[in-house]
Amino acid sequence: MNDPRQPPRRRSWAEPYKVKMVEPLRMTTRAERATALARAGFNTFLLDSDDVYIDLLTDSGTGAMSDRQWAGLMLGDEAYAGSRNFHHLEAAVREHYGFPHVIPTHQGRGAEHLLSQLCIEPGDVVPGNMYFTTTKFHQELAGGRFVDVIIDEAHDPESEHPFKGNVDLAKLRALIDKVGAARVAYLSLETNVNMAGGQPCSLKNVRDTCALCHEHGIKVFLDATRALENCYFIKMREDGQRSRSVKEILRELCSYADGCTVSGKKDCLVNIGGFLALNDDELADRARNLCVVYEGLHTYGGLAGRDLEAMAIGIAESADDDTTRARLGQVAYLGRRLTDAGVPIVRPVGGHGVFLDAARIVEHVPRAQFPAQALTAAIYLDSGVRAMERGTVSAGRDPATGANLIPSLELVRLTIPRRVYTQAHMDVVAESVAAVYEQREAIVGLRFTYEPEHLRFFQARFEPVEGTGILRAPAAASVSSDPPCSG
Ligand code: F0G
Repeated sequence: MNDPRQPPRRRSWAEPYKVKMVEPLRMTTRAERATALARAGFNTFLLDSDDVYIDLLTDSGTGAMSDRQWAGLMLGDEAYAGSRNFHHLEAAVREHYGFPHVIPTHQGRGAEHLLSQLCIEPGDVVPGNMYFTTTKFHQELAGGRFVDVIIDEAHDPESEHPFKGNVDLAKLRALIDKVGAARVAYLSLETNVNMAGGQPCSLKNVRDTCALCHEHGIKVFLDATRALENCYFIKMREDGQRSRSVKEILRELCSYADGCTVSGKKDCLVNIGGFLALNDDELADRARNLCVVYEGLHTYGGLAGRDLEAMAIGIAESADDDTTRARLGQVAYLGRRLTDAGVPIVRPVGGHGVFLDAARIVEHVPRAQFPAQALTAAIYLDSGVRAMERGTVSAGRDPATGANLIPSLELVRLTIPRRVYTQAHMDVVAESVAAVYEQREAIVGLRFTYEPEHLRFFQARFEPVEGTGILRAPAAASVSSDPPCSG
């Protein structure tokens, strides 16, 4: 019986699925990790996954499919044209996102490529709510220039704004006035803004932003890669939304826009795939035509029939309140554990991962020596947890001047794959990050030994600016994290 004099006891929740198959993980020693790190040029992208214990590099394509999705793979219709799986995908996208035209692509950047080539003229500007690496790259490749119109709070890791992904309408208006609506290719509106820490936009802001653009004849294309996660934040945080399902909110969100690009490797719960979805008939015809050149026929877009089927099923599974709640709940759990340990992280905790505020954690390393990259390396050395730099290395160079771009946020992303790790894995991660935080002053900065021309964070190699390890020698000698979960 509930005792009305006692505060209600918090009840635990658990995931709405159970484990049917496991993938064994290889445990490594600290000495093995030190060797692997040096071999990888202190870039976690260049590590072999066999050398990784808990892989939080990305939530992209790393999720676990359901038994229904695996069964769907067996229903692949591998016809070159008009596969029935394409029609299943088309129906799922129409039902959940609401756009009539669906063009599959091999992954998100394939859709970004098509959209950028079709809608951007050299010299155009493309406003957006913070850049994403591949999105901005394709906009620049088509001759456009990205302009950030996100609210200022998005650049402040400590701001508790509930919708840090929002567009600043005053910034957008000023940009349109300055360059003229005709020079604005379109507005690129990302849901659950990745580089801001997985931060959502409010439904009201999406509605107002789209209205302003449409008043000026400017189209709005969503990056709806993590739209369902964004919709769960809307449900929990926006006035009047609590009783609606994420499915309903997603339909409304998309109804304001002219189309979207999606990397299916996130929300859609598949290991590969993406799509471009559009309202406009003529633009869709042109997109289908370009798809044939770069991706494959417009009914498979670089994917096998079975991949289309798995994505169609994944969309429906993700558009379920319990699934999305468990997803965000696990990320929030890791965030809470790190906050309790006093580690500076981006607040509020976002949708797809916890972002460590490397600028504050490794204050003594100058931005030119890539503090977030160095912190990522130190975490790997400690426990075999693989994270990703999202700071100065990811920002790249100014295409006009060649100078390093110094973004406001210098972050390490602990990205949580969907339906893959347990709460115990999250505990190991939190304890490892807390241990590295305690020895933060021993972390050494990095310099390039190889810098690729494009999207440099993927393949760059580094060396420590002093010594040979990522930690100064006395600290390196004083710690032992072998094995990661002893005791
Ligand atoms: N848009 C967003 C917001 C993304 O996060 C990504 C990929 C893409 C587009 C491109 O999609 O990889 O399927 O070509 N993000 C991954 C990440 C790479 O780790 O955040 P893709």
